[in-house]
Amino acid sequence: MIDLRSDTLTRPSAGMLDAMMTAPVGDDVYGEDPTVGALERRAAELLGQEAALFCATGSLANLLGIWLHVPPGGEVLCDGLAHIARAEMGAHGALHGVTMRTWSSERGKLVADDVLAMLAIDCGPYLVETAAVEVEDTSNFGGGTVQDFNEVSRLSDELARLGIARHLDGARLANAAAATGHTLAEYGQLFDTVSLCLSKGLGAPIGTVLAGSAADMARARVQRKRLGGGWRQAGILAAAGLWGLDHNLPRIAEDHVAARAFADAASRRAPGAVDPGSVETNVALVEVVNARGVAAECERRGVRLSVLGPHTLRAVTHLDVTLEECIAAGETVGEAAIS
Ligand SMILES: Cc1ncc(COP(=O)(O)O)c(C=O)c1O
Repeated sequence: MIDLRSDTLTRPSAGMLDAMMTAPVGDDVYGEDPTVGALERRAAELLGQEAALFCATGSLANLLGIWLHVPPGGEVLCDGLAHIARAEMGAHGALHGVTMRTWSSERGKLVADDVLAMLAIDCGPYLVETAAVEVEDTSNFGGGTVQDFNEVSRLSDELARLGIARHLDGARLANAAAATGHTLAEYGQLFDTVSLCLSKGLGAPIGTVLAGSAADMARARVQRKRLGGGWRQAGILAAAGLWGLDHNLPRIAEDHVAARAFADAASRRAPGAVDPGSVETNVALVEVVNARGVAAECERRGVRLSVLGPHTLRAVTHLDVTLEECIAAGETVGEAAIS
């Protein structure tokens, strides 16, 4: 089975497992786990921020990042396709009283002026005040699309001038950076808080780092504990993240080559179902008449995809599939799409 449902499906490699087994650990709630400390320092430096906090999931890192900036009853603006809006189970509202207003986009790509036009500032007792703007890069439900760096930079400058906080959901920021050539720190400097997942293209079994100012990370550490997210010998897991940063970050562009090869192969069989030119990172979207039916046929032929909508399938390349497997999977999906 070639499983392209998500880049979260990878299993830790032998080298990563070895690093986990031999990591020095301590009680992280006491602040005594040296491997967690090393990961948090490394992540802060990589992301151009003062400090970082190791969290179990990307959802928790986003929950804390937005909580830092938005008081109960305030609002965060984000894309209607954003993971925080669609896939975090309403946590920001249910747990922290945050309201959300969304903008529309073409495949998850923000247009700074569209966002700036939505800001609600000094609206007296009539409208919900905008406290923060959230950007997702790459956009998962947009199909792994990469934000235009200049557009993000312009938005960031204007928000800073207006005193509106900026959170970056960088679950796949490593993919965005590989695609644009900008460093993670260049992205990090445009935001007050940034999350980066270790459990996606970087191959760790668990973990996301949230980075920001030292004062914000100290507050987030308390809220993480309040939510039940304090952990003890988490260095075993941090070691996997460090190993992923050392070994898997430098090769992440290979996943982009594989996604493009998948799309090329699929479009040779089924022109129109996949546009290879739309593949920007490690995600390829496949448009078909009956997504569930095609997914079931692909599964029967040994390829797994996820169903994003009635007509849309998603293939995500990752560490545990080879280039050859991705090409073969593309051919299978193309055949299933026209059968
Ligand atoms: C863009 C984005 N943000 C956040 C998350 C949440 O990560 P987790 O599944 O670790 O909570 C995901 C997960 O797929 C994601 O794609």
